[in-house]
Amino acid sequence: MHQSRLRGAPTGTNTSEKRMARFAQQKVLVTGAGSGIGRATALAFVKEGAYVIAVDLGKASLKETAQLITAKGGECETHVADVSDQVAMTALAKKVHAKHGALDVLVNNAGIGASGRFLETSIETWDKVHAVNVRGVMLGCKLFLPAMVERGHGHVVNTASMAGYFSAPDLPIYAASKYAVLGFSEALRMDMKSKGIGVSAICPGIVNTNIVATTVSEGEAAKWQSGAVAFYKKRNYGPEKVADAILKAVQHNRAVVPVSPEAWAGYYLKRFMPGLARTLASNPLPFMK
Ligand SMILES: NC(=O)c1ccc[n+]([C@@H]2O[C@H](COP(=O)([O-])OP(=O)(O)OC[C@H]3O[C@@H](n4cnc5c(N)ncnc54)[C@H](O)[C@@H]3O)[C@@H](O)[C@H]2O)c1
Repeated sequence: MHQSRLRGAPTGTNTSEKRMARFAQQKVLVTGAGSGIGRATALAFVKEGAYVIAVDLGKASLKETAQLITAKGGECETHVADVSDQVAMTALAKKVHAKHGALDVLVNNAGIGASGRFLETSIETWDKVHAVNVRGVMLGCKLFLPAMVERGHGHVVNTASMAGYFSAPDLPIYAASKYAVLGFSEALRMDMKSKGIGVSAICPGIVNTNIVATTVSEGEAAKWQSGAVAFYKKRNYGPEKVADAILKAVQHNRAVVPVSPEAWAGYYLKRFMPGLARTLASNPLPFMK
């Protein structure tokens, strides 16, 4: 069993509910916990007995997450912070370490989307997306890992994407950021192995969250953004499934975790038929036509 796995504690009171909570008393920090995959992950950890430290840019959305957690009888605290801001994240790490000591699980999940053909993208968007998606993940690790290493166990989850191994012509910025997260996570995993720290990269496919509605769409891509929102809604693959995969990744110390049928199909296609993968990725999806 992976060292970061929590010592279990019974959940529930009646016999059918009596099983071991997988993350009892574990301290789990989740970024981007105000929405989508981050919120679902926070709720899933709480359900398994963890104490969640929820971080996001949005105060109102964090409050909603906290209400959902307390409604389920769980415990959490919330912090408003921009994951790309070194000063804010350093202050957060100081506060968290003073109160709780080392984290058991760090989930670097906050991220933003970007779409548009390369020549239509702006340098500002490149900088913004890389600040959140790459620098945010790096800062989380830089600031929270040393205490975990000192204690000698823990687990880091970085939310990459299917776009971290399967690119597309309209995703140059997003794919570059997620390839970076995947490459970083693999390097970190090898580095941290001897220190008792597991590292997992989660690679979801098309998941029904707010991400497409808030994606920065440039050029032609701006014209089909509302179609993409409708497509993701219709696909209706819930963030709870990603949360479930995240908990299993921590429990079993999984390295790279595609989530959803298309993410798995892309994973194997890219590995065994890369030419076909590129042809398929170059074809516009129905909402782009
Ligand atoms: N939804 C998908 O289809 C999908 C697929 C693959 C990967 N992902 C990745 O999953 C992660 C979560 O995305 P989601 O789909 O739940 O999106 P979402 O928009 O529902 O949630 C993202 C959350 O991150 C927060 N956030 C954004 N920038 C931040 C910052 N600088 N500091 C702190 N918080 C910030 C937002 O406020 C929001 O609450 C992202 O890294 C995303 O790239 C999503």
